[in-house]
Amino acid sequence: LQEQPLAGLRVVITAGPTREALDPVRYISNHSSGRMGFALAEAAAQQGADVTLVAGPVEQSTPMGVTRLDVTSAQEMKTAVDQTVAAGTDWFIATAAVADYRPVAVADQKMKKEAGTDSPVIELAENPDILAGVAALTEQRPLTIGFAAETRNVAEYARDKLTRKGLDLIVANDVATPGLGFNSDSNAVEVFWADGSERFEARPKRELARDLIRLFQSHQSNRLPQ
Ligand code: C5P
Repeated sequence: LQEQPLAGLRVVITAGPTREALDPVRYISNHSSGRMGFALAEAAAQQGADVTLVAGPVEQSTPMGVTRLDVTSAQEMKTAVDQTVAAGTDWFIATAAVADYRPVAVADQKMKKEAGTDSPVIELAENPDILAGVAALTEQRPLTIGFAAETRNVAEYARDKLTRKGLDLIVANDVATPGLGFNSDSNAVEVFWADGSERFEARPKRELARDLIRLFQSHQSNRLPQ
């Protein structure tokens, strides 16, 4: 029988990319696989947590015991997260690669190429920051954990994000390292919090997920009761 150290803990995790429609057949998105978020959901559920995984469009099967909410756009992801968090959440973990911008206008018919006219210009609007929104809650605020994919100055940018978004912890990875991070099975990360940090050398994402859950647990137990 597996130990259930997270029994009763309510965890909400975002994972995967978001897809921002241009017209009924086209969109703007990115290559996020969702693997890290799904691995965290699996690890937390295995330890008895009550896990809700808010997933963008990904090719991943739902880990056993996890409640999965499928969404497409950043705005849909935000609605699903805000509703779930409002119902009571202990940890919010944002691994999703949310599109920073969405097309302002979504054409209701497929856009046609028109000979002899200028190339179209796509106007973009900024998407809401889902993670910063949860971190800014003043009531029922969960332990709030962000992820940062950086290609340089990893520690400096991660610490800046930690402060700017008001997070408890940030997990930073250097996506410039070949074979690690984005769309790969392994990851090496450094986690930062207000007065400390810890480095996790390269290991499979499922193993890293278990190690990260253990670290989050130590921060949970340091928290004052809300
Ligand atoms: O600012 P940046 O996109 O690098 O921050 C990454 C972190 O913020 C990740 O945890 C990501 O899931 C989260 N995020 C979010 N909503 C956005 C943009 C990023 O939740 N619109």
